[in-house]
This record gives sequence, structure tokens and C-alpha cells, in this order.
Amino acid sequence: MPEPFDRHQLQPLLDRIAAAAPRHFGEGEVADYIPALAEVAPDQFGIAVCDINGKVWRAGAADTAFSIQSISKVLNLVIAMQRLDEPDIWTRVGREPSGHAFNSMAQLEEEKGVPRNPFINAGAVLVCELLVSRIMSIHWMMREQARRLAGNPAINFDDRVARSEMDHKARNAALAYLMKAYGNLHSEVNDVLDVYFHGCALAMSCSDVARAFAFLANGGVNPQDGQAVVTPQQTRQLNALLLTCGLYDAAGDFAWRVGLPGKSGVGGGIVAIVPGQMSICVWSPRLDSYGNSVAGLRALESLVEGLGVAPLG
Ligand code: DON
Repeated sequence: MPEPFDRHQLQPLLDRIAAAAPRHFGEGEVADYIPALAEVAPDQFGIAVCDINGKVWRAGAADTAFSIQSISKVLNLVIAMQRLDEPDIWTRVGREPSGHAFNSMAQLEEEKGVPRNPFINAGAVLVCELLVSRIMSIHWMMREQARRLAGNPAINFDDRVARSEMDHKARNAALAYLMKAYGNLHSEVNDVLDVYFHGCALAMSCSDVARAFAFLANGGVNPQDGQAVVTPQQTRQLNALLLTCGLYDAAGDFAWRVGLPGKSGVGGGIVAIVPGQMSICVWSPRLDSYGNSVAGLRALESLVEGLGVAPLG
């Protein structure tokens, strides 16, 4: 078992991190390729930690809802892993880091329509096709899962964001059609994208996201209600995927600087897992060139250093 972190140290540390965050305001840009995201006030910061007993610590704008964007790709994969047989998933999408931007077309063409992993856009769209082709009420299920995991029945889709993404769908549609051309995607592209964009448009706060991901720190069991979300083996597999693929072509740098399984979204959120101890969510909308939150990354570095949590040794 990893050394437990010092609970008394945590709140003052989070307060210090939130107080230091404005130093990075002004660095990076908000995502503007989705117009509804470009309207978010850029200089905001929140952080929340949830331990394996479900206790939450927070600082800054930890209860402000933001668009979780690619963080939803993990929640969608969880539904697929709960409901589908392993070969149904892993013959259609790989488990290797891509080393390419999250929305790159080049590798998908080279590799004949089989996405490298479920966290790049092509892979996440493919997972949504697995879900939409098998589950009638998938939108409802995605929202219910987020509500149940976070223990917050008020969580909802931001329909403006979902519509804005559909209005500017060209690149994701191109990825989907390429997979269709290679025979790896069969459903109507717009039906698949509608599911994918709704997942991305879930509006959750740092406190919600930290709570919703605590099962990945807790052997697959949601500390909110004691329910098993995935098996211990699936938990290890998901954390392995997050460590190697969660931050796209910056996954290596994230492992170097933070050393935790993590997943970012272009809404400015990043979730990270300290296995056996806690889940963490940071949020700040300005992004670096890889699509990862600038102030969020800095905050995670400071938190890991301040707490001395180091699952990689
Ligand atoms: O499809 C897109 O491009 C966005 N809805 C999600 C991309 C994303 O969040 C990448 N993460 N950093």
C-alpha cells in the first residue's frame, strides 16, 4: 500500500496552489475551434481532491461547472468495458500512445482506420459507435453515470456546447468517415458524433470530476456509494491507458513532470489519479499547444511535489 498522504497538509497546500495560479493567467489560449468554448472567461482556476473515502477538499473555483470535453472519453470507455466483451473493443481500437495530436488524421490513414487508442478523437468516436450501435438510451446512460459517480443529480449536458461542436464537426466527421471507409465504423456518422459531442459537453465542476473518478484510485469501487464500477483488473488497465495515452502527444512529458495517470480536455480540465489514495481535478481554460491546461499542469506539479505522492517511485 502507498504511504497515506498527510490530510492536515492538504487544505493549506490547495489554498497555496490556488493563490499561485493567477501567475499563469495570460499564458496559453482558450480552445476557439469550438466557438462555444471560446466564450468562457479564460482566467479562472479550480482544484479539488477526493480521497478513497469520498472526502473532498477544494480551492479556487472548484465548484464552477466547465465543459469536460475529452475527460468524457474515459467515462465512455468505462461504459464500453462494463457492457462489451474485450475483443469487441480491442479488435477495433488499439492501446498504444499515438505520438500525434488528438485530432490527427495522418496516423489513422496510415493504420487503415484503426485508431491507436480510445483517448484520441478517432478512438473515442469509435467507442461511441460501439455504444450507440448496442445501447438504445446511451445519452441517458452517459448522463446517469456521470451523476451517479459524482453523487450530483444536477449534472447535465451543456446543449449549446454540443450544438456548437456539431456545427463545427468537419474534422471529427472526417475521422469517422475515414474509419467507415476502412470498414471499422458502421453506424450513421451523425448519430455517432451526436453521442460523442454530448459526452464532451457534460458540464461538471472540479469537485464533480474528482468524485466521479475516485473509483480509479479505489480498485474500481465508487467511494460515494460502495458500488463496483469496474473490476480491479480493469482499474489497473484504465490507469495504464491514462498514463500512456491520456495527454496525447504530451503523455511522456506529463508522466515526467507529474507521474500520474491523467486525462485532459480542451475545456481546461485535467483529472489525475493517485492509485490507492486520491483523484484530483484541476481546471483552468487556457491551453498549451497540445490542448492541455497551462495553469492546471503547473498546479498538478505543485500538488504532487507538495504531498510527496509518487506512485512511480
Ligand atoms: O472533439 C474535440 O475536438 C473535442 N470535443 C474534444 C477534444 C479534447 O478535449 C482534447 N483534449 N485535450
